[in-house]
Amino acid sequence: MILILDFGSQYTQLIARRVREAGVYCEIHPYNYPFGKIAALRPKGVVLSGGPASVYANRSPRPDGRLFGLNVPTLGICYGLQLLVTHFGGHVVKSRKREYGPAEIGVTQDNELFRGLPRTLNVWMSHGDAAEKLPEDFVPLAQTPSAPYVAIRQKNTNVFGVQFHPEVHHTPQGKEIIANFLFRVCGEKPDWTMASFAETQVQSIRRQVGREKVILALSGGVDSSVAAALLHRAIGRQLHCIFVDNGLLRAGERERVRKIFGAAAGYETEIVDARKRFLKKLKGVADPERKRKIIGREFISVFEERARRLKGVKYLAQGTLYPDVIESVSVKGPSATIKTHHNVGGLPARMRMTLVEPLRFLFKDEVRALGRELGVPEEILLRQPFPGPGLAVRILGEVTEEKLRKVREADLIVEQEIRAVGLYQKLWQAFAVLLPVNSVGVMGDERTYENAIVVRAVNSVDAMTADWARLPEEVLSKISSRIINEVRGVNRVAYDISSKPPATIEWE
Ligand code: XMP
Repeated sequence: MILILDFGSQYTQLIARRVREAGVYCEIHPYNYPFGKIAALRPKGVVLSGGPASVYANRSPRPDGRLFGLNVPTLGICYGLQLLVTHFGGHVVKSRKREYGPAEIGVTQDNELFRGLPRTLNVWMSHGDAAEKLPEDFVPLAQTPSAPYVAIRQKNTNVFGVQFHPEVHHTPQGKEIIANFLFRVCGEKPDWTMASFAETQVQSIRRQVGREKVILALSGGVDSSVAAALLHRAIGRQLHCIFVDNGLLRAGERERVRKIFGAAAGYETEIVDARKRFLKKLKGVADPERKRKIIGREFISVFEERARRLKGVKYLAQGTLYPDVIESVSVKGPSATIKTHHNVGGLPARMRMTLVEPLRFLFKDEVRALGRELGVPEEILLRQPFPGPGLAVRILGEVTEEKLRKVREADLIVEQEIRAVGLYQKLWQAFAVLLPVNSVGVMGDERTYENAIVVRAVNSVDAMTADWARLPEEVLSKISSRIINEVRGVNRVAYDISSKPPATIEWE
């Protein structure tokens, strides 16, 4: 494996992505990860990430110096290069000319890192400091007109440093540079595949749980579904899934879960009909934060009750993903932010069970690839995100059965029409929101006074920012007329044309 030490760069996760795409397993750990643990990982290579600090600043982040005694191939990127320079006795200064953005570098010495690449390369720079004097036993490998040491190496060892960012798209040959490091310098092999990952995880789950039972809260979303499929492959009916129908689900959700994870598919899945309970607790509650809290708490109590009935269960499985677990010094990624308001967050703390988290080393798209490997249907793997508190955040004000019916029917129409024109995969989300207002309309000869539905469709890459989607007029028109004709109690449809920020994707 390759160890990536994180010094706070916004690109640390990208480094991991590039290494994995090259077929090599890697893990990110914080820069101050204990030396004993580093040695125990027995990495075949170490990457020191970039970071916002200056090496000459007081209390700048530094790894345990014994790391450099391990004799492991090392690649320092940006701040990582500067660390190498200062550690081995060179000198780093604030550059006179800060370099941000594209730069052209010239390779000055033949070496493994740039093997097979042209002598002139376009790269992406982002730094305010630069090496001024190299340590005695280092040599320059590449330069720009304003910086003599944009790539360096220690003579007779496999310690390299680059001042630019090979991990970003704006360094077109970055992938080759990283591949050269992995294969030519570290001697890795590109043998990390989803099939091999699934196999090692199956073995490790079996070792961890033995003959014990494991429970899992199955939501029908990508993460819990893939976790269920993996655990099922490992321990079959020792896995007990609990699916809670809280009454706030989309149309057909319960049937889908029953079909894919039910007894007919060989799963031990309990489907709990808790619709009445949730509705009762939500009666009269209009405040969105209170609604979310009630739903979260109620979910935990339903789940706990069921778990208790199973008696003696020691393990709780969760589909936690990598971005949620990295103890990174970098700002955590968007999925971590989304998860902060996920409604099963409080579960592990309450249950006092040992956690089984077989996806904790995977990124979202890797989870999808694993799901495919395990035969999880695309209708689950390729779904748009859906909030934990469900349709409750898409009904403004109090949630009632009648309002749930309206928003659920409208949502299904939006989904069907978006799918019909092949836009479902292109949009981040598309859904319906029910407004708690009535407006006047006419139907036939009658005057109506009914609800309004808002259609929301957004493009986004990470939910942190989003732009409203310019849906084709015919699609909007079809959605509107179908909702008004088919959803009883709705006489008006509006389209949300606000972006995030300042608006959010969901209305509550
Ligand atoms: P907002 O509305 O904050 O949503 O722009 C960003 C993304 O997060 C999803 N979302 C939630 N997910 N529980 C969740 O699990 C929630 O309470 C929740 N609220 C919003 C939302 O669908 C969007 O993709």
